[in-house]
Amino acid sequence: MKTHKNILAPSLLAGDHSSLLSALKEVETAGAQWIHLDIMDGHFVPNLSFGPQTVADLRPKSSLFFDVHLMLSQPHKYIDAFLKAGSELITIHVEPDYPIQQTLDKIKEANCQCGIALNPNVSAAEVEPFLPSVDLVLAMTVFPGFGGQSFHEEVLPKLKELNELRKKNNYHYRLEVDGGIDLKTAELCKEMGVDTLVAGTAFFKASDRLNFINKIES
Ligand code: DX5
Ligand code: ZN
Repeated sequence: MKTHKNILAPSLLAGDHSSLLSALKEVETAGAQWIHLDIMDGHFVPNLSFGPQTVADLRPKSSLFFDVHLMLSQPHKYIDAFLKAGSELITIHVEPDYPIQQTLDKIKEANCQCGIALNPNVSAAEVEPFLPSVDLVLAMTVFPGFGGQSFHEEVLPKLKELNELRKKNNYHYRLEVDGGIDLKTAELCKEMGVDTLVAGTAFFKASDRLNFINKIES
């Protein structure tokens, strides 16, 4: 019995950055319910994307669910800004050194959903202490920083492990993957119990985006 219905979260990172609003409208027109917003600081990851002002300006123009992925080395310093910008789910990474549980609690206290993310080389054990409190676990299937990278198959056993931990302990989190997700790799992840899938490149390149969404969410 699956805990959550499958959802695609197209990543705005793969849209046209000269007009992020039109890229977001393409996501809406295709029939997606979520948008994945990749926030990069050029420190935790070797790239920069966009910040809270961009999210705040997009917020009133869209009813999509804003799934915000903070790839920041000091995310606790930016929670207020992304809450104010209208995020509905804020995911923070487990790797940097900062008060993780306190930051998750702060996100929840603001009635925003919270998520914990782990990179391909990080074991499920590292996020176990946070599993009772999160609404989402984001298991990266690439090393974050750029769209269009290849899927890391070695993450598959960890997805299965995170799904088993969820079932065994009756946790409520969504299990999300991000990086190199296309129709083929999505099926591999769903077989492991993944229910939330981020796709940037594959979504924006799809010739039939409605079909792409339906296949991913089936
Ligand atoms: C981290 C980013 C990317 C992006 C999706 O690098 O989180 O993974 O969302 O990238 P692609 O284009 O592989 O779907
Ligand atoms: Zn992401």
